Amino acid sequence: AKIYVTDASGTDQVVDASNGDSLMNALLEAGVDGMLADCGGGCACATCHCYIEGDGMSLVGEVNAIENVMLDSAASERRENSRLSCQIDISDALDGLTVTVAENG
Ligand code: FES
Repeated sequence: AKIYVTDASGTDQVVDASNGDSLMNALLEAGVDGMLADCGGGCACATCHCYIEGDGMSLVGEVNAIENVMLDSAASERRENSRLSCQIDISDALDGLTVTVAENG
């Protein structure tokens, strides 16, 4: 799936993400600036915080219970379109998803 990313310094790039990978891992492997992912995908750090743009929130599923708690402690402001990218699995349905990486998570 092609993911359209605005990194933490405001630069746009397109990331080719593999099905079954997490959004976090795809952005990390692509070297996207600001994707820290300190806990390695364990939903325990909130440094993979992203904002899902456009109508993407309807595609990425629901915030899970642990993620919901962690988002409250994210370094950047929590918004209605906040998600922890390690909790989003890439599939064909997400092709064209647009996300902004939150600065410092
Ligand atoms: Fe730590 Fe997502 S990588 S919560």
